[in-house]
Amino acid sequence: MKVLVSPSILSADFSRLGYECQTLERCGADWIHCDVMDGRFVPNITFGLPVVQSIRKCVAIPLDVHLMIEEPERYVEKFAEAGADTITFHLEATKKVSETLRLIHSCGKKAGISVKPNTPIGSLTPYRGLFDMVLVMSVEPGFGGQEFIPASLDKIRRAKQLFPNVPVEVDGGVNAENARQVAEAGADIIVAGSAIFGAPDCAAAIKKIRGGSK
Ligand code: DX5
Ligand code: ZN
Repeated sequence: MKVLVSPSILSADFSRLGYECQTLERCGADWIHCDVMDGRFVPNITFGLPVVQSIRKCVAIPLDVHLMIEEPERYVEKFAEAGADTITFHLEATKKVSETLRLIHSCGKKAGISVKPNTPIGSLTPYRGLFDMVLVMSVEPGFGGQEFIPASLDKIRRAKQLFPNVPVEVDGGVNAENARQVAEAGADIIVAGSAIFGAPDCAAAIKKIRGGSK
C-alpha cells in the first residue's frame, strides 16, 4: 500500500494561497494539511476559519485540519462548517477528549487525535474506538522546517501495534530522504511542508515522498 501525502501549507506563500493549493492538487497531493495555531497551545499563530473556508472553495481534495489550539471543542463545529474533512486535535489541549471526538463525528467528519513528541502513544488507549486517525508529531508542534525526531519511528510502530486498524499520520521533518523509513515504520499518511514547498518540482517532491511504498 502506498502512503498518502498531505502537504502542509504552513510553508506556502500566504499572499497567493489559492494558487499554491491548486498547484498542490495538480501535483498529486492526496490531502491538504491545514495547521491552525492559536499562540497558546503552541508559540505561534497561523490562520483560522476564513482561510479554511477559502481553501475549500478552490480545491476538491480533502482538507486535513490540524488544530493546535487550546480547548478545540470550542471550534469543532465551525471548522466542520468551514469545510474540514478530517479534524485532528491534541490530547494535551483539552480535558474533554471523548466529548471532542464524539462532537467531530456528530458533525459528520473524521476524527484525528495527536500527541506531542513527549507524550506516550499509550495515553490514547482509553479512547480506542473513538478516533479514525492517530497523528504522531515527529517535531515539537509550532513551526515548519524542523528536524525529524528519530524516536518518532518507534512511536509510529507502537501506534500500529496498539491500534492496528487505525491509519497513522506522521507530521514534522519528513522529506524525500527519510520518507521511506517513516513509511516502513507504518505511516499511512505523511505530512510534509518545507520538503514540498522548498523543492524545485512540487510533483516530483510529492512522488518521492510517496515512494516509501510498503
Ligand atoms: C508543525 C506542523 C507541521 C509542519 C510540517 O507544528 O504541524 O504540519 O508544518 O512542516 P515540515 O514538513 O516543514 O516539518
Ligand atoms: Zn501539522
